[in-house]
Amino acid sequence: MRVAISADHGGFPLKADLVAQIRDLGHQVLDLGAPTYDPLDDYPDFAQAVAQAVAAGQAERGIVVCGSGVGASVAANKVAGVRAAVCHDTYSAHQGVDHDDMNVLCLGARVVGAEVARELVAAFLSARFRVEEERFLRRLNKVKAMEAAMAARRPKTSAR
Ligand code: RB5
Repeated sequence: MRVAISADHGGFPLKADLVAQIRDLGHQVLDLGAPTYDPLDDYPDFAQAVAQAVAAGQAERGIVVCGSGVGASVAANKVAGVRAAVCHDTYSAHQGVDHDDMNVLCLGARVVGAEVARELVAAFLSARFRVEEERFLRRLNKVKAMEAAMAARRPKTSAR
């Protein structure tokens, strides 16, 4: 599959390692930055880039790395169609996909080391949403309905 990835300065050292791993697992990588280490860059910019790529169908899954994973998940979830979560245990990293159709994994490079991060990525990318199980589809549709209701309440911007 095609996997979009990004990191701010907090996640930058881990990103190169994960890019290589994702390729080794046989996936295509869409690297959306940061291209170089910049201690003044901001996690919302990188979370937004991955979230928009996933929402637009340019990537099936996304991974965003920041210091804690928290800011990345907060920001990524602002993009409609994105279901992002911080997962620092392998059960959540695959169960979030199996049950909840999580499509963006957020990692905290200051929380987990490189080897744990690799296991989390492998668990996330090998998981598949169990669409055939009615209860999971029913719950996902309720989440989508919440998102649609929010969008419908938003004032339309004028063309001018
Ligand atoms: C950056 O210093 C840090 O605040 C950011 O990477 C992230 O941890 C936010 O959640």
